Amino acid sequence: MEAFRYVDGHLHAEGVKLEDIAARVGTPAYVYSRAHLEERYRTLCAAMEPRGADICYAVKANSNLGVLRTFAALGAGFDIVSGGELQRVLHAGGDPGKVVFSGVGKREDEIDLALKVGIRCFNVESAAELARLAGRARLHGCTAPVSLRVNPHVDARTHPYISTALETSKFGVPIDQARALYRQASREPALALVGIDCHIGSQIGDTEPLLEALDSLLALTDELAADGIELEHVDVGGGLGVRYRDEPEFDVARYGAALNAAMAGRPQRLILEPGRYLVANGGLLLTRVEYLKPAAPGATSFAVLDAAMNDLIRPALYRAWHEVVPVTPAGAGSLRRSWNLVGPVCESGDFLAEHRDLALAEGDLLAVLSAGAYGFVQSSNYNSRSRAAEVMVEGETFRLIRRRETIRDQLALELADDDPLGPGML
Ligand code: LLP
Repeated sequence: MEAFRYVDGHLHAEGVKLEDIAARVGTPAYVYSRAHLEERYRTLCAAMEPRGADICYAVKANSNLGVLRTFAALGAGFDIVSGGELQRVLHAGGDPGKVVFSGVGKREDEIDLALKVGIRCFNVESAAELARLAGRARLHGCTAPVSLRVNPHVDARTHPYISTALETSKFGVPIDQARALYRQASREPALALVGIDCHIGSQIGDTEPLLEALDSLLALTDELAADGIELEHVDVGGGLGVRYRDEPEFDVARYGAALNAAMAGRPQRLILEPGRYLVANGGLLLTRVEYLKPAAPGATSFAVLDAAMNDLIRPALYRAWHEVVPVTPAGAGSLRRSWNLVGPVCESGDFLAEHRDLALAEGDLLAVLSAGAYGFVQSSNYNSRSRAAEVMVEGETFRLIRRRETIRDQLALELADDDPLGPGML
């Protein structure tokens, strides 16, 4: 399903004109299509048949409560990496019994909360974490369900910042040490060894590295069974790539078939932790052109937008490519040329796109596509810019799922209650 498409030259999100959203909530604003999120989830579930898999949506990709509620309503589980993400899942009505908790630095209070609400599994990343987890479980008189995140040393062949299974990565337990750690953990009554997991990276284009990692996990699972350690699940992480520009679509049908084949005859349940695949192309960033700075031929022309690197940092951080398209037909006075689309932030790295052939005029609305994953969640208040609004479209209607921040929100944590510039002045 195309979440965003043109009708008579006007870009729509499902059945809603993006101009109408801009008029009501202003810009910049993130806009999501609920139907798109639902369809991606269902497509992935279908690809995992006949065996089926438990989909634990990686909350970090987009943690808005409206997005989490959408997946909770579909029966999804969740992959979290902090106590904050756990609180979000609980607020969205997610089932803690379907939550897996990843991350290399779980604090005691985060572990305590997860033990209290009864999550499905802790994806443990080191011997030190295992010891801390056992200690907290003993203290609370309960048993902690554990999977070891294994680093299978597979090159995911993606951007170095989002490759997580190289020998130099901070993530997981090196595969050659995992068996000994499992055996050690099996002697600790406060721990229940329920699974094994890995996550080798993000925006992975083809299934090969993922399947290579799975092979390593399954070989280890067999060794553990020989040691008398029978696991209940195998969690292959996320990482499924999406199309930002001209990348081939990740072949979920092929991935599903290969996972089914690899798991044939095995009792373990399969878990996936997709983030980007489910949300990236279901969201866009709506922005307005503030100023044009056309240059002489040969020099660079800039269009200054009201969205910036603090709203969407992926281009600045990874040189990620996002398609940028007009929201309305170009007017007679617009200027066509190759533009660098930049924000108002005082950094030369503040760009959303470079060298884009567009016909622009001041005041035009633009849509930065494929911004549903790692967009809003990575935004900041840099330059004291208030963070964008977020909107969920459902058919012919839309809802504000996060209001635009105000300067009052920004200052609230810094002003003393009796400050003369306090709330009353703002
Ligand atoms: N599981 C774990 C343990 C992870 O660390 C991640 C992502 C996922 C699942 C979900 O991966 P996905 O299916 O979305 O590829 N900010 C970067 C991406 C960072 C990914 C971090 N970990 C970006 O904007 O490209």
